[in-house]
Amino acid sequence: MLNKENVTEVLKDVIYFPKGDNIIALNMVENLMVNENGIRFDLIVEKADDPKNEILTNAAKRTLTGVFGDVEVDIKVKEETTALSKVKHIIAVASGKGGVGKSTVAANLAVALARANQRVGLIDADIYGPSVPMMFGAEDERPACFEKDGKTVMVPVEKYGIKMLSIGFFVDTDRPLIWRGPMATSALNQLMNDTLWGELDWMVVDMPPGTGDIQLTLAQQYNVTGAVIVTTPQKVAFADVLRAAMMFKEEALQIPIYGLVENMAYFTPSDMPEKKYYIFGKETGKQFADQLNVPLLGQIPIVEKIAESGDNGTPLALDADSPVTKAFDQIANSILSSDF
Ligand SMILES: Nc1ncnc2c1ncn2[C@@H]1O[C@H](COP(=O)(O)OP(=O)(O)OP(=O)(O)O)[C@@H](O)[C@H]1O
Ligand SMILES: [Mg+2]
Repeated sequence: MLNKENVTEVLKDVIYFPKGDNIIALNMVENLMVNENGIRFDLIVEKADDPKNEILTNAAKRTLTGVFGDVEVDIKVKEETTALSKVKHIIAVASGKGGVGKSTVAANLAVALARANQRVGLIDADIYGPSVPMMFGAEDERPACFEKDGKTVMVPVEKYGIKMLSIGFFVDTDRPLIWRGPMATSALNQLMNDTLWGELDWMVVDMPPGTGDIQLTLAQQYNVTGAVIVTTPQKVAFADVLRAAMMFKEEALQIPIYGLVENMAYFTPSDMPEKKYYIFGKETGKQFADQLNVPLLGQIPIVEKIAESGDNGTPLALDADSPVTKAFDQIANSILSSDF
């Protein structure tokens, strides 16, 4: 049957010999559209004027018509972009405090944006304690790498339609990672710049806790569209939240804040799904947001399943029945409709 899944399967038989893998694994196929009129996609190549492009395009057409018969195949050859030149928005998910749920929010927000038909990337900027590989059950993935102009270029790992990269794909994360400051920022720069990100609507960046080197590098050297600040409702968390918010608002940086996400805002027992226990006070998130003069984007309940899903590698926002999914869809929609 002619559909996107089957076309993708068939394209896995098209090998790009210089890199020794198929064009799907190499992320060379983008914007694939399949309908009754035929198949169309962009073929992302290293150099637009390479004669090998035509050979590859013809091979893809032959392979597709071989399986699907006399179908229209329209392939547009586009030159690849490493770095972030074709990334429309960069969102930093940050907090001054550790363990408040930055990674959980970043992963689920990426999933919610992808569900809204956006092209999404996710960078784990937590060089010291990467968590994206585990949250997406991708610990065993190793991004493909190749040499271009004397430099190693990485191909992001793709899961649930999200292109992701983390230092955790390259190192053994059982041991704590110890980096000197300049090494950490250089690792972040490599993840950002030396990667085939291609065209993306959103790049979600999962930040490490605090306001250190990594945060400054990201804020100063990249065109961050806006920040999402994560907090928990305890009053003691506010000082840290304020510090993170101030960093983005600082005059030299002037990065706008999309708003605040209050994680672990209330507790709902699984046998009483209609009950909401606001253990730390119902209005705390709203008060924090008001004090920062930013919108409260959403309240995420404490759910055992979030922790479980983080550990078993399927972000909870993939589960259509979960109230958490609704909360993240709302957050994604606020971000999509914001004017920055
Ligand atoms: N709403 C929630 N309900 C239940 N557990 C949660 C929730 N949000 C996060 N957790 C759990 O809390 C722990 C910390 O979350 P997470 O790793 O997302 O925080 P973080 O801010 O990224 O931490 P770090 O500062 O170490 O990077 C994880 O085990 C996660 O599964
Ligand atoms: Mg984290």
